[in-house]
Amino acid sequence: MAEEAATVEVRDLEVSYGWGRSATRILHGISMDVAAGRTVGVVGESGSGKSTLAKALTGTLRPTAGSVRISGADVFATRGADREALRRKVQLIPQDPYSSLDPRRTVGEALAEAVDPRHAHVKKHQDEVVHWLDMVRMPADTIHRYPHECSGGQRQRVAIARGLILGPEVVIADEITSALDVSVQAEILNLIAKLREELGLTMVFISHNLAVVRHVSDDVMVMYRGDIVEHGTAADLYERPQHAYTRALLDAVPGAPGFDITPHPQENSV
Ligand SMILES: Nc1ncnc2c1ncn2[C@@H]1O[C@H](COP(=O)(O)OP(=O)(O)O)[C@@H](O)[C@H]1O
Ligand SMILES: [Mg+2]
Repeated sequence: MAEEAATVEVRDLEVSYGWGRSATRILHGISMDVAAGRTVGVVGESGSGKSTLAKALTGTLRPTAGSVRISGADVFATRGADREALRRKVQLIPQDPYSSLDPRRTVGEALAEAVDPRHAHVKKHQDEVVHWLDMVRMPADTIHRYPHECSGGQRQRVAIARGLILGPEVVIADEITSALDVSVQAEILNLIAKLREELGLTMVFISHNLAVVRHVSDDVMVMYRGDIVEHGTAADLYERPQHAYTRALLDAVPGAPGFDITPHPQENSV
């Protein structure tokens, strides 16, 4: 694990959309800790507030109450250059790479832009771009391809490279396998597990699928309508779910509870 691995501390986080009387509270006081180099999974059905939590964790959505600290620094109380530095430490890998990748830009341009939005020259950043394509097991000539020329799994790899290219210490992965076939999901899960080890990342891994979450997470939090209803080690939660909602999520997994998303989870082969 890299020695600079970061911690995440969330306390009593409340987030609302809208203002005044039309405000709707989505997160009702979420607290969670992610130790350095560990992964906490967040699982819950669609609409439970997972992506809202992801946006608050990355500092892009201001909470109405509570705090998010990265290695002790309060994301919403830090200003100026410190805030920018803190923001770079935490990156989101989004849910839908097809809509988050500009169809008119090549993979190389998308990655160069992530390195330097104002000077997104592929030539200038070529070494870095090729390095990160290699990190996500994509060949160097992918830089010339457009998103529509890539498969769903390849686009997700590009989205992962884009999230990692600035060298974050914390990664928030939001439904990164949800748009993919089961066999491709396994590849992406193995890749992310491997990168996490190599880079010493601290991670929050979000999915509506408990089987997917279990495979990459040390601890799992079950979210229901903006609250955490259950929290435990991945194994405990899977073997001995306490909450009825967790059991319902387990039942939603194909072939539960023996369903395995990865063919060889121990090997993390890519
Ligand atoms: N920008 C927004 N404005 C108003 N409501 C929103 C907005 N984004 C999400 N919501 C609502 O917040 C709730 C949680 O959404 P979301 O965080 O996307 O859940 P999940 O990622 O678990 O599916 C949903 O009811 C959704 O309709
Ligand atoms: Mg979501």
